[in-house]
Amino acid sequence: MIDTFEASSLQEAHYFAEQIEEWYLNNKRELPWRDIKDPYRIWISEIILQQTRVVQGYDYYLRFIDRFPSVDDLAKADEDEVLKLWQGLGYYSRARNLHFAAKTIATSGQFPTSYKDIRMLKGVGDYTAAAIASFAYNLPYAVVDGNVYRVLARYWGVTTPIGTTEGKKLFSTLAQNLLDKKNPAQYNQALMDFGALQCVPKNPRCNNCPLQVSCVAFIETSVSTLPVKAKKTAVRTRFLIYLYIRYKDSILLHRREKGDIWQGLYEPLLIEFSESAELPSIIQKANLPKQATFRLAVKGMKHVLTHQVLIVDCYEVELSEFSTIEKYNFVPEKERANYPASRLIELLYDAIDDLT
Ligand code: ADE
Ligand code: SF4
Repeated sequence: MIDTFEASSLQEAHYFAEQIEEWYLNNKRELPWRDIKDPYRIWISEIILQQTRVVQGYDYYLRFIDRFPSVDDLAKADEDEVLKLWQGLGYYSRARNLHFAAKTIATSGQFPTSYKDIRMLKGVGDYTAAAIASFAYNLPYAVVDGNVYRVLARYWGVTTPIGTTEGKKLFSTLAQNLLDKKNPAQYNQALMDFGALQCVPKNPRCNNCPLQVSCVAFIETSVSTLPVKAKKTAVRTRFLIYLYIRYKDSILLHRREKGDIWQGLYEPLLIEFSESAELPSIIQKANLPKQATFRLAVKGMKHVLTHQVLIVDCYEVELSEFSTIEKYNFVPEKERANYPASRLIELLYDAIDDLT
């Protein structure tokens, strides 16, 4: 195996691209954002697919394009509605950034046409800029996503860990050297589909793989050890108590402010503890009227995020007298669905609804 790669031979690079593209012509997936040139639609699809699988993102894409067929429609929308359409997809900053960037584009009058200008849009990184530039305008920028890392690491036998500064540099140089500059759009799609369908993370289909004869990992039987990943950062455990507070026909909701992944989404009263907490300490910390009644709806639900594990309890709290809490508002309970909420909060709502 090698630790550094130099495009040792143009011929080898050419062979690789040719094989990948031939495989693609026989195996490509028909997807609604494929073989179109509208940069707006391509952008939406790439943002959805950044942290979401195709099967999960498919319907979201169709609904999003149906509601916002053009960048102007999206620019004019209310942020609540954009988040509502995104509900359940996670990583909500994607939706907020899309909305923000749509306004930038609408103001400028047209979708940016160069890699540099596309890359400047909020929420667009190297990968997404290369995807839009190549798919919409056939510009020669290689995409580097998880699929590409895996295929390149295996085929070329690269052992440098992905996710390190060195790895990023090495793989992006390698990817750019291998790019079929005559057909960047097709080559990029081909490489991504090859990674998604053939050279998959677990049990890749090496047996019928057209690249098998020259694949370093296959020849050296190191397929299962590649790509090498950098050590994970520590995962933080947090204990969250949600109090679903009802007074007559209204419930208490709060719109999360700047600063985290759930910004702009609504949720019931939240109190956090450094360890698992029982009702007496919860009541004390929440500082609610004495007459309130509490019913447990969820206990110890584990919710796993990228860098955090949340252990969540949820209580239904019935108030018999009115009480206000700063930054929280009472809203009619039957209008709850109008307030965009994270997946976690949706699960809590389901549990609350099951109580009655
Ligand atoms: N994942 C990210 N972008 C994609 C695309 N354009 N097609 C299929 N899967 C993808
Ligand atoms: Fe991937 Fe296996 Fe094909 Fe190599 S032979 S490119 S590891 S599927």
